[in-house]
Amino acid sequence: MKGMQAFVKARCNQCHVVAGHGINLGPELTDVAKRFKGEKLVQQILDPSSEINKKFQNHQFVLKSGKLVAGVIVQESAAEFKVVTNLLNPNAFVRVNRKEIEEQIPSKISAMPNGLANVLTKAEILDMVSFLEFGGYKLPAHLKHSHDHSGND
Ligand code: HEC
Repeated sequence: MKGMQAFVKARCNQCHVVAGHGINLGPELTDVAKRFKGEKLVQQILDPSSEINKKFQNHQFVLKSGKLVAGVIVQESAAEFKVVTNLLNPNAFVRVNRKEIEEQIPSKISAMPNGLANVLTKAEILDMVSFLEFGGYKLPAHLKHSHDHSGND
């Protein structure tokens, strides 16, 4: 429970879903323990660029006009890419026409911002890590009804 509060306090749920809570801009974290545990998991949180999940990788587009666009590809078609340049503002995207691309470079910098856990105490970070390793807090069915997201604590 405390781990979930820390997760929300650091606004991780703006981009991640754990057991049905949050928004899916980054990888679903319910089974993240299969990929990362303990120290490795902490490292992913404190230093997101240390290992990048390919599906959510930032790409840099150098356009023929000389313009640069960097962000996560959220949709692609034969003609263009839809690129979100700032995941904290997911509704704003840029369309990149394939014909205008000079070069496309997968970025070594994660789309997940650094320093998100800075608002948490060490204890809160550890609670959050256990919460993630456990696959997210599952609310007992009888409590679901009165559950709200007002953030009062
Ligand atoms: C602005 C959106 C955003 C926020 C906010 C965010 N993340 Fe992420 N996160 C991502 C993206 C995108 C990736 C995938 C890219 C990567 O692996 O670095 C990711 C990857 C991860 C991974 C690695 C999972 C995997 O499968 O590779 C973990 C663990 C993680 N985030 C935990 C957290 C925690 C904990 C917080 C809160 C402190 C948080 N994230 C906040 C976007 C975000």
